[in-house]
Amino acid sequence: MELQDILIRIDDLPTPDPIVQKIVSVASDPDASAKELAEAIKLDASLTVRILRLVNSAYYGLPRKIVALNEAIMILGFKTVRNIALSIFTYSSVLKNKKKSNIDHYQLWKHFLGTAVGCELLAQMVGYPNKEELFISGLLHDIGKVALDYIFPEAFNAVTKLTKTLQISFVQAEDRLNLPNHSIVSGKMIERWNLPEIVVHSASGHHAPNNFSDSVYADVVAIVHIVDFLVNLMRYGDSYTYGGLTLSSFALNVLGIKPRFLTNLADKLKIRLVEAEDFLKIEQEVS
Ligand SMILES: [Fe+2]
Ligand SMILES: [Fe+2]
Repeated sequence: MELQDILIRIDDLPTPDPIVQKIVSVASDPDASAKELAEAIKLDASLTVRILRLVNSAYYGLPRKIVALNEAIMILGFKTVRNIALSIFTYSSVLKNKKKSNIDHYQLWKHFLGTAVGCELLAQMVGYPNKEELFISGLLHDIGKVALDYIFPEAFNAVTKLTKTLQISFVQAEDRLNLPNHSIVSGKMIERWNLPEIVVHSASGHHAPNNFSDSVYADVVAIVHIVDFLVNLMRYGDSYTYGGLTLSSFALNVLGIKPRFLTNLADKLKIRLVEAEDFLKIEQEVS
């Protein structure tokens, strides 16, 4: 199967609805106002309720309850509110796929969320200035797996079977089955959703950080690579890769961190993941 075979059917995949798209575009417009963003969100009542619930979750640790979207945007910023809207969209795209694959979509969502939270945390720890973009990069890094699961569930099943029986990585199994690399598909999907370039590159490079040695995105690719490795190692959720887990020493060098730093990161991440638990049950929150 070629990359084209997936890309040709990419239109069959869920894409952010017009309201989420509007949120993405308003959030990346430096001249936009909080009022403008709040108005775009308010067009969808259930999205508004969900966003406000997540705004008030332990993850953001606000000192008091926020009831108005305007205020949430002023306090947390445009990009964080955009991230919440995209999390809600991604959650429903992953969980509402009822096709015949054998995977547990909730566990896949957990892997996405764990990587998002970890990327934001690592960005903060190494002093990377744009931590909100890292959250979304982590959240969407494996969205290409959703594409494969959606379009060719039998192929996804074949990959998971192979990683299990041969104890090889998801990417190695994709190679053996002549499937396109999911990270490349992730990049293509994110591009279509008009998200910033940094998100496109960090997703498409997460299994090959060495290829980005001369790129301005070397550090973000390294962050996603390292956190993906760690979240898999911690067995938080499931990314359906059962062997061949490798950590690139190049990625550690790019960020100037030593392997023992990862123990510290893992300890902090466990705490953040407890605080992020409301993101795991987005659906149950609205009756
Ligand atoms: Fe991946
Ligand atoms: Fe992953």
